Amino acid sequence: MICVAIGRSRHKHMMAEHKHLAEQGAKMVELRVDYVTGRVNIGRLMAAAPQEECQVIITCRRKEDGGKWSGTEEARLLLLREAIAEGVDYVDIEEDIASQIPRFGKTKRIISYHNFRKTPEDLEELHERMTGLDPDIIKLATMANDPHDNLRMMELMEQSKIPTVGMCMGDIGTPSRILSAKFGAPFTYATFHHERALAPGQLSFKHMTEIYRYEKIGNDTSVFGVIADPIGHSLSPHVHNAAFEAKGIDAVYCPFRVPSDNLDQFMKDALRLGIRGLSVTIPHKEAIARHLTKVDPAVKSIAAVNTVVFDGSEVIGYNTDYNAAMDCIEHALGTIGAKPSPVKNKRVLVLGAGGVARPIVYGLRSRGALVTVASRTRQRSDRLAKAFDCKAIDWEARQRIQCDVLINCTPIGMHPNVDESPVSKTFLKPSMLVFDTVYNPESTLLIKEGRSRNCHVVTGVEMFIRQAMLQFFLFTHEEAPADLMREVLMKTIGPVRY
Ligand SMILES: NC(=O)c1ccc[n+]([C@@H]2O[C@H](COP(=O)([O-])OP(=O)(O)OC[C@H]3O[C@@H](n4cnc5c(N)ncnc54)[C@H](OP(=O)(O)O)[C@@H]3O)[C@@H](O)[C@H]2O)c1
Repeated sequence: MICVAIGRSRHKHMMAEHKHLAEQGAKMVELRVDYVTGRVNIGRLMAAAPQEECQVIITCRRKEDGGKWSGTEEARLLLLREAIAEGVDYVDIEEDIASQIPRFGKTKRIISYHNFRKTPEDLEELHERMTGLDPDIIKLATMANDPHDNLRMMELMEQSKIPTVGMCMGDIGTPSRILSAKFGAPFTYATFHHERALAPGQLSFKHMTEIYRYEKIGNDTSVFGVIADPIGHSLSPHVHNAAFEAKGIDAVYCPFRVPSDNLDQFMKDALRLGIRGLSVTIPHKEAIARHLTKVDPAVKSIAAVNTVVFDGSEVIGYNTDYNAAMDCIEHALGTIGAKPSPVKNKRVLVLGAGGVARPIVYGLRSRGALVTVASRTRQRSDRLAKAFDCKAIDWEARQRIQCDVLINCTPIGMHPNVDESPVSKTFLKPSMLVFDTVYNPESTLLIKEGRSRNCHVVTGVEMFIRQAMLQFFLFTHEEAPADLMREVLMKTIGPVRY
């Protein structure tokens, strides 16, 4: 169950959101009365409660616990007692005031603890202490400073005899909000709107239900995810979760923010978190190698992994960017997997020498293409060219050479710099293949100008989808629903724009 926290300054707005949520199917709301400016009228809020089955928690949070209450402590306690007298379903009582708010009538007690600085070392002792405060539910919300905090919180919840809602705050803690159902939480918290989070890292009701399908997560749900730092607004959870749903697979895909220093511990924790596969991105693509027991042959040469599969005692690394990019190019030039490859002996100019250029240059060279790399930092292109026996040129010289295939592996043209292109329009010749790895927007200026010059074009969306499809297959051994994944990606890129 998802409990949606509502914090509005006016009663009428709080009542309207409560009604709206109940109509959307929310089974539980938390009315954060500390957000109300002026006198709080619990009776009025409860009288207007919607007819639909939707339980109510009344919470009045002090400033030191992340709330907005500005009245006296005495008035706050009075308000909580009034809520109990009104017969609300639950009141949230911080552990230090639990003895001052007696149990009465049918109202259940959530004994809560908040820590906005850290997840304390003595989490178990804290929980034990709270168990003695006559709780129906124990709620712990602590800041995650390390991904391991999530596992500690999840295992505490799983082992607890009293139903416990444990959440780690902040973006490192986001997985604990999504996975809590797997570890036995009676419910998790979400916010009414993603731009109005009431606690750091809180997800919206819409994202919890539509992207993560929280209500379907249970004990046996397999966990997949992306590890990165920063995690940003990764598109992968949208695409993979939609694919799991379409294929009826009991799995969830989470964003895991894992700082470099925490990678080793995270990999130790992975199986206990139920993780079966991971997408790997910056800054872990190379460092992850030390945790692998087996690698796909291509990975050895590329020296970068973007996919990890946990298979029994094996931890296997793959690079789906490489396969996806090669499929895109061969499809555009002829046939995927043809021998010799349609890219053999083609003159290819690769712009950029970073993480995405590397698997592409490897793939091109192993298929016999004649590759030239131009990168802003000459040292980087020299290094890449040396690794794969090709040519490096100065960035300024990029438009002075002739090529059959042009591949942009720089972020030039990516939102918000959509008016930029890495080459001038006149460089583009009819029948040239122009491949832009940038996928937001799909139609970059380079792609638009390529089309207008009658070039063949391949977009970054095509590559993103192909790499996600390959990952999905490695994760599940099932064919990925390509059209759906593309549709979800396009819908997500549209409004989010990152
Ligand atoms: N479609 C897909 O599935 C997919 C997957 C991954 C990445 N991508 C795209 O690929 C792009 C690059 O990703 P990456 O992981 O390779 O990044 P990266 O490792 O940071 O490498 C970026 C490369 O672009 C160069 N560069 C950056 N800004 C530049 C500028 N203004 N002018 C000239 N060169 C510039 C960098 O040069 P310096 O060394 O001088 O900084 C570096 O060579 C991303 O922005 C993303 O859009 C697409």
